[in-house]
Amino acid sequence: MSQIRKIGVLTSGGDAPGMNAAIRAVVRTALSQDIEVVGVRRGYSGLLERDYITLTARTVGGIIQRGGTILESGRSANFRSEEGTRAALSCLDDLSLDALVVIGGDGTMRGAAALLAQGIAVVGIPATIDNDIYGTEMGIGVDTALNTALDAIDRIKDTASSHHRAFFVEVMGRDCGYLALMAAVAGGAEAIMIPEVPSDAQDLVAEMSRAHGLGKSHFIVVAAEGARPRAAEVAEQLRAIPKQNYEIRLTTLGYVQRGGSPTAFDRLLATRLGAAAVEQLAAGGSGIMVGMNHGSIGLTPIADVVGNKKPLDEQMWRLAQILAV
Ligand code: F6P
Repeated sequence: MSQIRKIGVLTSGGDAPGMNAAIRAVVRTALSQDIEVVGVRRGYSGLLERDYITLTARTVGGIIQRGGTILESGRSANFRSEEGTRAALSCLDDLSLDALVVIGGDGTMRGAAALLAQGIAVVGIPATIDNDIYGTEMGIGVDTALNTALDAIDRIKDTASSHHRAFFVEVMGRDCGYLALMAAVAGGAEAIMIPEVPSDAQDLVAEMSRAHGLGKSHFIVVAAEGARPRAAEVAEQLRAIPKQNYEIRLTTLGYVQRGGSPTAFDRLLATRLGAAAVEQLAAGGSGIMVGMNHGSIGLTPIADVVGNKKPLDEQMWRLAQILAV
């Protein structure tokens, strides 16, 4: 029998579609093992401010299809200070919580590492649209965000073709080019700008001229927000060059990529990871992040998650260059 009697669950950092599905899976898996669940609100801030609710099978009913997070999220800068972790410890004590499940991105895992250092049992669940978390092929929310970006790219291509325009479509991803690369390949874009590979305005001019020569009616550049120089700067530079083959436009997709109903993939991923997190805690596990690798649940020490950078998918990058003709 599990020694764990009561756990807390929180969502932190940028919200990601599927977080609710993960909360639901955590709560219902825990209840099936006679473990009570407290929902800590607004991320780590809720721990510091004792902002929480008791979660039951019913309070997590009807949320699997909802984007955002019913617990709300937050980015607490002072949480990782000594004072912050001490306040969190005392909250966990007051609530008699034996362990925490934290759902979020990179910053969330760093918060988990700070709690672990204080001896608190923690299991992490990766959820961020950026897909920049080491230890899992996919984070919760990535698939939904990718499909949202793709839908926008398809629409932009329609209007771009009608006016012989080049569009820079900027997608999110922070310092990671995953979303941009995958959206570009899936959307059949002509060029890609990602943080992992320096971009050059002159190269783009040459590519545009080649595309025009091939009879292309549009030129789509999918740019990650972390690419340097940024898409807006490159677009300005290109506009300043006389006699361009395409009229230049820029669309920043922004926060629309964070919202919306999670895809089936994200709901299923969140459900499997939520259940796995509780099973790990119940079996005495801690200090790990549950992830999905090659279709199976994988466990990665949180120390490794925060200490490593997820590499660029070089194969996909090469494929993108071959296919954008
Ligand atoms: O990490 C998710 C993300 O949406 C990034 O893609 C983006 O850079 C960042 O969050 C925006 O953060 P905020 O919600 O704090 O503006």
